[in-house]
Amino acid sequence: MSTTWSPSSWRQFPAVQQPDWPDPAALDAVVKTLSTLPPLVFAGEARSLTDDLAKVAAGEAFLLQAGDCAESFDAFSADAIRDKLKVILQMAVVLTYSAGVPLVKVGRIAGQFAKPRSSGTETVEGLELPSFRGHMVNDITFSAAARGADPERLITAYNQSASTLNLLRAFTKGGFADLTRVHAWNQEFVASSAEGQRYELVAAGIERALRFMAACGIDTEATPQLHTTDIATSHEALILGYEEALTRQDSLTGEWYDCSAHMLWIGERTRQLDGAHVHFLSGVRNPVGCKVGPSATPDDVVALCEALNPEKIPGRLTLISRMGADTVETALPPMLRAVQESGHPVAWACDPMHGNTFTAPSGRKTRHFDAVLAEIAGFFRAHEQVGTWPGGVHIELTGDDVTECLGGAEEILDADLGTRYETMCDPRLNARQSLDLAFRVSELLRR
Ligand code: PEP
Ligand code: CO
Repeated sequence: MSTTWSPSSWRQFPAVQQPDWPDPAALDAVVKTLSTLPPLVFAGEARSLTDDLAKVAAGEAFLLQAGDCAESFDAFSADAIRDKLKVILQMAVVLTYSAGVPLVKVGRIAGQFAKPRSSGTETVEGLELPSFRGHMVNDITFSAAARGADPERLITAYNQSASTLNLLRAFTKGGFADLTRVHAWNQEFVASSAEGQRYELVAAGIERALRFMAACGIDTEATPQLHTTDIATSHEALILGYEEALTRQDSLTGEWYDCSAHMLWIGERTRQLDGAHVHFLSGVRNPVGCKVGPSATPDDVVALCEALNPEKIPGRLTLISRMGADTVETALPPMLRAVQESGHPVAWACDPMHGNTFTAPSGRKTRHFDAVLAEIAGFFRAHEQVGTWPGGVHIELTGDDVTECLGGAEEILDADLGTRYETMCDPRLNARQSLDLAFRVSELLRR
């Protein structure tokens, strides 16, 4: 961290992927308002997530980071949050029970509203308009009015994040996540499937274990770990004015924390070493992530470690590789070795989604479930080669019964994609595909 860092010092660095705000004064006014609103998370929570991620870096725990590609202002409901939580809890149970490793759960939720785009504009029938950048910035409808960047959306994003986080806390602490309720997380359309049946066996095993402990005289009622759980929040720190406004000085330590989420990450398109995003996140003390794609060199990756974690604090930095199924096994090992030799304590996670996106003949953006699994398997083999710990997975999913990714046990075909293709951005795994993935990952972990 440079001595001149402050929450606004990113403004002296080139910031890519920022919207073209039509009225800078209106943006400044919103940022000012946001900076007076309460923080969404507390610095102590971010510190305890760093401690949990330190266990991932040390090979003693596994990270499940999962949620939407882009949260929506329109599809905002208690049911949608509950169903997303259900599938994450199910995956967590499968991974913990089948693989026997402690799990760190982080949602792409309660703040994942901004998207980097490969092109700043989109042209339809000769009309060129700004690209959709996520509901924090503009709307997806293809009209000049909808595509204009509206700073009021930052306030809506903050408010929606606050209510989402409130409900998540209520669900995870108020009885919904109680292990005696494992069966209840299996949604009907999942329960009737092969993956759902496999989950029922795990759930029955957990119930038996709980009864066994009670019969042995263990007071399971008095064991909070069985009745509540933790899910941290995370999103891509993309719109830096928003992140700046929610960055607060911790009264306990005097350090700066970005209190918009527990964990923030830098995307593949914004990881320039001399750029504003790396500079901004270098100065906050939250655990941070950085995506790394195949265009990064091993030296780039070590330089990112130096920039983002010069003090080599375990758990501070998670590198999220997103190489593509065909590339991961050749591109990743040199990076793993370079980081290992540099002595940087990094948690490595695999994003098997963003390197495997393509446009199907129907014209829909999709991913094949097999490619997702293949990238994860390649990620595990790369770590095996180098002797490092495959620390986790980073998944785009929804609790709904959507048809956005091809394949899986129900064998979704290109012709089926239109049935329930609901994402505003990238295709997400549905609840059945997500559960299936958790079983496959636990098999890899057991080996
Ligand atoms: C994302 O995680 O939604 C994303 C845009 O990923 P990446 O930065 O890896 O392309
Ligand atoms: Co995405």
